[in-house]
Amino acid sequence: MSALAVRQHSRRPLGADVESADQPPSTSSIAYNGARRVLDGNWTGTSTVPSHALYPHQWSWDSAFIAIGLRHLSPARAQRELETLLTAQWADGRIPHIVFNPTVPLGAYFPSPDFWRSSSAGDLAGAPTAVETSGIVQPPVHALAALLVHEADPEVSRRRGFLAHVYPRLVAWQRYLTERRDLGGRGLASIVHPWESGMDNSPCWDPPLSRIRPADRGTFQRADLDHGCPADRPTDLDYGRYVRLATTYRDHGYADGPDTALFAVEDPAMNALLIASEHALAGIATAIGADPSDHLVRGEQLTTALLKRLWNEDAGLFLCQDVISNEPIRERSVCGLLPLILPGLPEEVVASLVATLRGEHFGVGTTTRLAPSYDLRGAAFDPARYWRGPAWFNVNWLLERGLRQYGETATADALRDELLGTAVTSGFAEYVDPVTGEARGSRDFSWTAALAMDLAVRSR
Ligand code: SER
Repeated sequence: MSALAVRQHSRRPLGADVESADQPPSTSSIAYNGARRVLDGNWTGTSTVPSHALYPHQWSWDSAFIAIGLRHLSPARAQRELETLLTAQWADGRIPHIVFNPTVPLGAYFPSPDFWRSSSAGDLAGAPTAVETSGIVQPPVHALAALLVHEADPEVSRRRGFLAHVYPRLVAWQRYLTERRDLGGRGLASIVHPWESGMDNSPCWDPPLSRIRPADRGTFQRADLDHGCPADRPTDLDYGRYVRLATTYRDHGYADGPDTALFAVEDPAMNALLIASEHALAGIATAIGADPSDHLVRGEQLTTALLKRLWNEDAGLFLCQDVISNEPIRERSVCGLLPLILPGLPEEVVASLVATLRGEHFGVGTTTRLAPSYDLRGAAFDPARYWRGPAWFNVNWLLERGLRQYGETATADALRDELLGTAVTSGFAEYVDPVTGEARGSRDFSWTAALAMDLAVRSR
């Protein structure tokens, strides 16, 4: 446990800027105050940038995690964060992974709006004309976030008509994924680009990506290397393939179908978040006096499909499925542990997931501070490079939630303490070395701050 975590459970009020001389500030209090500084600094007036330099627009799943923390600072602002994102929703239901801020120069981020050309290339799919967006999506954390935001202050939420406004939009988003993205026809959603997983260059995508001819060098210019250390970022070869996939999807009008997809993978994390959000939609429906039963039925159907299609007893976790080759992807990624957030899993699956999390491949509670994004023993493990080993705060926040749900309180408490301590000592880093906690990627990263704030408040 980090030194900062030892006074975790102080019951002193959070947000106190002045600490008494004889009692050092608790980690929760330091984390809360630091997180507030980061979230205020990254707020644009209508939403929050993940990081001013590396990610200067609004990102979809970032905003959902950010709202989960913001609800403690300002429930109305957390609602606004989600509402702003939803103004960029497409008529087919998709929530784009980036909503571009028109005041940010084109060269500040690649791929920029002139690459995606959403308002023209996405015309048939119903892209909005008032705002430019990307054409791909990210994991659906939004209904879960909306319910948590509502619960933080139901009165403000009711007064603003928050749930009534977001509910039909979130239903359309979920139906986009369950209907248009069931590319394998087996009751699960597929991602069509590695960026859609949010875990951009996980080794899980190496086999399906190896079939993609990279875009020619010189046809695009990366902007991420202006702000990030090359050893922490994806390689040029990966980027060439990302660009080829996005270009091809765009040139097909962002149409979804098994015949056009060059890359189609059933990702257990994406599907687990889809199911968690279906359960959250049931909660939202109940709160606004609508019938929740359709959501509960879908949640069960999706869980049955997830268990049947992606559970792998030998690996001790869920595996990704390459829909095009019709083969499981035999890599242990943390995405295969995230279904732990789901209620009602069979006891033996829960026991196996917890054992894998604690065991030699992820080392939680033994060799690592936080769960790595990829197998410590995997051939491709790299503790520094984006999603090929480093630990991420959003993933560990979800694992903490899953462990607590299944009564693994001691492991959940220890993980929470490490999350809080490491968020502070790393300067709210985007990601960290899973063993040493050394900061990687950008600092003052919004979801790290938001989720630390959430844990700080909940550990009071
Ligand atoms: N995460 C990706 C990036 O690094 C795509 O959103 O830009």
